[in-house]
Amino acid sequence: MSEPAAAVVFGEALVDAFGSVLLPGGAPFNVACHLAALGLPPLMITRLGDDEAGRLLRDTAARFGLSLQAAQLDKRSARVEVREREGGHVFEIPAGQAFDRIEAAAAVQAATAATTPDWLYFGTLALREPASRAALAALRASRQQRAFVDLNWRQAGPSPQVILEMLQGIEVLKLSDAELDLVLGWLQLPSIPDVPAAGEQRAAMARLCARVGARHVLVSHGAGGAAAWDAHGCCVARAPAAPVPRMIDTVGAGDAFSALMLAGLLRQRPLATVLADAVAFASLSCGWRGALPADAALYRPWRTRLGLAAPAVTTTPPA
Ligand SMILES: Nc1ncnc2c1ncn2[C@@H]1O[C@H](COP(=O)(O)OP(=O)(O)O)[C@@H](O)[C@H]1O
Ligand SMILES: [Mg+2]
Repeated sequence: MSEPAAAVVFGEALVDAFGSVLLPGGAPFNVACHLAALGLPPLMITRLGDDEAGRLLRDTAARFGLSLQAAQLDKRSARVEVREREGGHVFEIPAGQAFDRIEAAAAVQAATAATTPDWLYFGTLALREPASRAALAALRASRQQRAFVDLNWRQAGPSPQVILEMLQGIEVLKLSDAELDLVLGWLQLPSIPDVPAAGEQRAAMARLCARVGARHVLVSHGAGGAAAWDAHGCCVARAPAAPVPRMIDTVGAGDAFSALMLAGLLRQRPLATVLADAVAFASLSCGWRGALPADAALYRPWRTRLGLAAPAVTTTPPA
């Protein structure tokens, strides 16, 4: 019998193509890999092909102990072209990707066959087309679940109107500084410029929660750490980030943050502890290349903090 899933993760698994070099990615895929390696394997609802990119995603998932059994089969895996430009990377996300075609019936069937995880993670990119949007809506309608949403806004994603609709009734909304400004702008609320102190109260945060229906908003401030706000607009926790001894890149830092947040919430740990761990793990992730670490032994101390048994997965870094 398979282990009960700890959460449902819905959305894109894709490859980032740096020329001919393919790297696994997609925020939900990264979060699902982290959760599995932490000993909280989720049910991953996604769609991918039986091609080179699909094999890379399946191999990567296996290294982290993530099952892709519920992944739907498409004719082609999703692929994002990454171009190096002065001052950073430009991501081209073409239309008509596998994650745009997640089917509702198969998604609900997979979730129904699993045990009853009460958390659901999703982002917004995979919600740009009606098919995948309908799949998520069907999943949410099929059972009571608390939704953890990482906005992870992308130009190629859905319109603000669609996003705001999909945020209705969620439990936790994770935003970066820039995304907070964006969402406040959509809602015509005043911006919140500086890093808050715990205990601080902001009417705009309360109105944001009221408008999207979230019980908590998490705002990550890059090197400034992160803060958690409740629905009354009160900053209930704040965690500064420790300096990164050897900065490699910040790719996937938000995904590392969300994974540890979700893991801590699944384990019902106190919010301030969960936030501090999420910030610390995300900052640690800036010390490895890309979103996922090469060595899963790195999760050991985090599993211990979460009160989970020693890792079942043993991975070796690729040669
Ligand atoms: N330059 C940095 N130094 C230390 N930690 C960082 C840095 N950039 C990101 N982080 C860590 O990653 C978390 C998420 O990063 P952030 O850039 O705010 O979100 P996102 O990746 O979603 O845009 C931060 O709260 C922090 O813990
Ligand atoms: Mg992000």
